[in-house]
Amino acid sequence: MNLHAVILAAGQGTRMKSALPKVLHRVGGTPMLGHVLATAQSADAAACHVVLGHGAGQVQQWLQADFPGADVVLQEQQLGTAHAVQQAMPLVPDNALVVVLYGDVPLISVELVRKLAAAAGDGLAIATAELPDPFGYGRILRTAKGRVTGVVEEKDASPEQRAIREVNTGLLAAPARRLKRWLAHVGNDNAKGEYYLTDVVALAANDSVEVQTVAAGLDEVEGVNDRLQLAQAERRYQRARAEQFLRDGLHLADPARFDLRGTLSFGRDVSIDVGCVLEGSVELGDNVSVGPYCVLRNVKLGAGTRVDAHSVLDGAAAGRDCIIGPFARLRPGAQLADQVHIGNFVEIKKSALGQASKANHLAYVGDAVVGARVNIGAGVITCNYDGANKHVTTIGDDAFIGTDSQLVAPVTIGRGAYIAAGSTISKEAPEDALTICRAREQKSFKGWKKPKK
Ligand code: UD1
Ligand code: CA
Repeated sequence: MNLHAVILAAGQGTRMKSALPKVLHRVGGTPMLGHVLATAQSADAAACHVVLGHGAGQVQQWLQADFPGADVVLQEQQLGTAHAVQQAMPLVPDNALVVVLYGDVPLISVELVRKLAAAAGDGLAIATAELPDPFGYGRILRTAKGRVTGVVEEKDASPEQRAIREVNTGLLAAPARRLKRWLAHVGNDNAKGEYYLTDVVALAANDSVEVQTVAAGLDEVEGVNDRLQLAQAERRYQRARAEQFLRDGLHLADPARFDLRGTLSFGRDVSIDVGCVLEGSVELGDNVSVGPYCVLRNVKLGAGTRVDAHSVLDGAAAGRDCIIGPFARLRPGAQLADQVHIGNFVEIKKSALGQASKANHLAYVGDAVVGARVNIGAGVITCNYDGANKHVTTIGDDAFIGTDSQLVAPVTIGRGAYIAAGSTISKEAPEDALTICRAREQKSFKGWKKPKK
């Protein structure tokens, strides 16, 4: 089957009140248009034609980066949905089957697209739904025997027609050869003065072509016109993903408080507490547990690693059985080997920490290569930046860095070295030796008087 998807995305989206074109607003971290394109591709569309108008430049830029295979069709004036589809038709061969989708109806399922394509056959298929409140939608007109004869838009409908609860979702499928002919006959003599795509339904019926209806799920065909609907779509999307993960064996403390804006893979007995945001690619090994209110972006964690509350991990990887947090921050390039402990208010950037090394409180480790079993005390800072360039700190296995020490990079701390608390180290500290560097010796003054107010 030569399936061509035509995706309408030329509308302005005025009600979003945004400088960003509507279809670039994100659901689950992906622009709405990206969801629709991915769905079309999963349904084996041979080509995707995206009809752009308002904000075309911005949308095109995004398409070039994320969906370079999609065709862009410009609809300079938005004269209606039929006119929009017509702009794409020169790119569609006569023997193709066309499915029309909407850039602002992001959550349609691959299954619905497949069903529509299959139902169309050599005729026309439209996706419909029964709504308790059909206001604003086109209504499906049927004969007494149930044959579909047309669609009437809200503004053009009579009071009796407005009572019909079976509505047009907008999605349809038909052979290109027929659709092209019907589109050529659509006029704009209606309440809105627009070329309505829905008029092809009556044209098909007049041609004695069978019009099939495919029942769509209410959740999947809801469009996004304002930010309230965008937020509602986001919740539906997150809920559906969370429920799927639960069925797949992921422990989520609360599926209503789960946000994934990318992809997640997980092993057995992985648990995620409430309020976490997962972005980009997140990989969690067996028995990983993530505490409440953590942010994980492009993160890979080995089996048995635990992330405690309020930690922020970005572009970081950890081995097995690490303990990270609470209140830890791993920045891009943080690489923890197995059994590493990173505690509260510790920031690690572009640094590798060897097996069983620990930085449990209040430290900054940047541009460092840290060996195994190193203890980094509270308040230790790697002074990696001289105001112009970044420099590396190297710390050998089994070193002990006393609290409140500064390591002025570039600098090397030897294996087993012991740095006394409060030292400022700017030269190499030799292996297995105690190095101390404080401003002056401690003195006490007897009989000293406290200052008075
Ligand atoms: C349309 C259907 C209606 C259906 C409803 C479902 C028509 C005439 N009506 O109505 O039967 O119940 O969708 O949500 O099709 N667009 C363009 N170019 C245009 C006009 C629209 O690209 O010239 C795009 C819009 O950006 C939008 C989509 O097409 O994504 C639908 O257009 P809209 O004007 O919102 O149609 P509705 O009045 O909602
Ligand atoms: Ca609409």
